[in-house]
Order: sequence, then C-alpha cells, then structure tokens
Amino acid sequence: MRTCSRLVVFFILESLATVVYAQQNRTASDSVYTDAQAARGRSLYQQKCTKCHGDALQGRTAPALTGEAFLAVWGSQPLSELAAKIRNTMPADDQGKLKPADAADVIAYILQTGKFPAGRNELAADDAALKAIAIGGAKPQATAQTRSQMPEFPAFGNLAQVMRGILFPSSNIIFNVQLHDPGEKTATGPVNTGAFSWTAWGGEIYAGWQLVDYAAVAIAESAPLMLTPGRRCENGKPVPVDRPDWIKFTQELAEAGRAAYRASQTRNQEVVSDVTNQLSESCLHCHQVYRDKRGSRSSGLDTSALHCTP
Ligand code: HEC
Ligand code: HEC
Repeated sequence: MRTCSRLVVFFILESLATVVYAQQNRTASDSVYTDAQAARGRSLYQQKCTKCHGDALQGRTAPALTGEAFLAVWGSQPLSELAAKIRNTMPADDQGKLKPADAADVIAYILQTGKFPAGRNELAADDAALKAIAIGGAKPQATAQTRSQMPEFPAFGNLAQVMRGILFPSSNIIFNVQLHDPGEKTATGPVNTGAFSWTAWGGEIYAGWQLVDYAAVAIAESAPLMLTPGRRCENGKPVPVDRPDWIKFTQELAEAGRAAYRASQTRNQEVVSDVTNQLSESCLHCHQVYRDKRGSRSSGLDTSALHCTP
C-alpha cells in the first residue's frame, strides 16, 4: 500500500510539472540569450548586485542566483516572473530602478553562469516573450529532515489570540493598500501616538512595500497554525483541526496569503487592491461557519460560546 500511495504522489507531481511546462514553449536550454547580452548583464550585475548576491552569484547576504536551490524556486516559473522580481524589488536597497532591458541582460548573465547555452538571438525584454520561456531544470529539493526528527511546538495561545495577534494586524496592512500607496513618500514627523502600533514603529524601520510583503508572508506562514492539534478557542472548545471544511478554509487562507505576496511583489497598488477580495473571503468563509453564527451579527446575541463548532 505504501509503495502504491507514493506512486500516486509521484504521478501527481509529474503531471503538475507537465502542466507548468506546457504553458512555456521554450526553456533556457534552447539558446535564448547572446554572449554579448550576458556581458552587459555581467557589468550591471557587478555594479548593482555583487555586494549582496556575491561576485560569482553564489549568494552572500542574499540568496544564490545559480545552483539547485535557485532552480528549485525559479526553474519552473516563466522568466517573466524572474524579470518582474528583479525589476520591481531589486536591488533591494534601491528598488524599482532597473529598466526592462537591464533585467533581461542580468537574466542572460544568470543563465550564462548557470551553464545554459548562448545563441544568436538576445533575450527579449518584453513580458510576452519572457512568459513563453522557463529556465527548466528544476528538481524538487530534498527535505533536510524527516518529520519525526522535528521538535514539537505545541499550541501556546488560544485561537482568538492567534487571530488578533497575527491575522488581524497583517491583513489590515494589506487592506490598507486600497487607500494608501505604500510607495508614496510621506513626511515623517515625530511619532508620539501609537507607540504600540505595529504600523507606527514598524513603518520607521522597514519601507512601505516591504511591510506589505511581510504581512502577506505572515498570513501564508501562519495558516498552518490553524491546524495545530490541541489548540483551543477562547471558549475552551478544541479547534476542529480534523474537520475537512476547516482544513479547506485553512488552505484558502494560505493561498490568499501567497496571492497577496505575489501581488505585493508587483509593487502596484491596484494589483494588491484586487487581491484583497480573495483575502477577505478567505477569512469570511471560515468565520461564517465557525465564528459568526447565523444572524448573530444582526440580532446582537453573543454567540461566542458556539465558536469553533460548526
Ligand atoms: C542590498 C542587498 C541586495 C542587492 C544590492 C540586490 N539584492 Fe537581490 N535580493 C536581496 C535579498 C535580501 C533577497 C531575498 C529577499 C527577497 O526575495 O526579496 C534577494 C532576492 C533576489 C532574487 C530572488 C532570489 C530567490 O532565490 O528567491 C533575485 C532574482 C535577485 N535578488 C536579483 C538581484 C539582482 C539581479 C540584483 C542587482 C540588480 C540584486 N538582486 C541586488 C538583496 C539584494
Ligand atoms: C480556518 C478558520 C478561520 C480562518 C481562515 C480565519 N479565522 Fe478568524 N476566527 C476563526 C474563529 C473560529 C474565531 C473565534 C476564535 C475564538 O473564539 O477563540 C476567529 C476569530 C477571529 C478574530 C477575533 C475576533 C474577536 O472576537 O475579537 C479576528 C480579529 C479574526 N478572527 C480575524 C481573521 C482574519 C483577518 C482572517 C483572514 C485573514 C481570519 N480571521 C481567518 C476562524 C478563522
């Protein structure tokens, strides 16, 4: 039986990979850049990227831009995603200044370093062209530890505390993008109110868009906390971690967090505004069943004794 279920998993992974590749017509093995372009990319890289990513792209304070770990993340995605990542968020200390052609040149250099063959045509800088190419060569990363070797982290807070401490502040940061452009420069006066406001003091330390990135990551990463066995709701009822609908709502939450991150990485206020629906729906779907009982809002009845029961 064991072998059988492993085979099934393998099959699913394989067919997923096929689907991903099917959308891209070409891979980096098809000679998609020129040596001259890679040389331009190299000098730009040396000026703007070396100090964090290392002089041989081996990684330093920032991740390697070559090798297996890099391919595991970027290999199966279209090059347009990698170009967008570079254009919108790099260099990390001076974001959003690279022209599309610069990003394409740097990608050419990244491909050259990764030993992908050069050819006679340059890598085009426009999104449509980059969308049709994937790097390819992605291998799923081996997991370093098996589950049984992992230390256990039993539930510590109740569910309402997790909601109020992580999901509430994080999603408000994302919802707030509908009203305020995080890229906007604001006059920073003395902050004497809200000393305990995460936005007031966090905003002083990290730049606008980064806060949105981190809030989205907090949501995606905290979703599994919904499934920690042994956690209770404020009313003492166990969180229904085994119920299929609860698990489905948790997956929706994780996917909404990932979508919010992808949106934030575009550094485009409208794109993030669009994704806020998905986020609020992921909260709402679970709350409708497990928190806000039918009619409780309008009737004003306190139904908190029923929280965490379907
Ligand atoms: C001040 C430091 C710094 C500089 C300069 C910098 N980066 Fe980065 N870069 C980072 C950090 C930190 C990360 C990881 C966090 C993230 O993904 O935003 C990163 C991530 C990346 C990633 C995603 C890597 C991965 O595996 O997810 C790419 C691609 C990248 N940088 C390209 C570049 C390029 C190209 C340049 C030069 C134009 C550059 N970076 C300059 C700090 C830097
Ligand atoms: C998988 C189900 C589930 C998801 C997803 C979920 N919640 Fe909750 N949430 C609950 C339950 C159940 C409670 C009641 C907890 C309790 O009473 O201990 C709750 C309570 C809360 C509270 C506390 C309300 C109060 O009484 O003070 C906040 C705030 C909250 N959620 C925010 C969010 C936000 C924001 C999201 C989406 C980003 C979200 N939740 C997603 C199930 C969920």
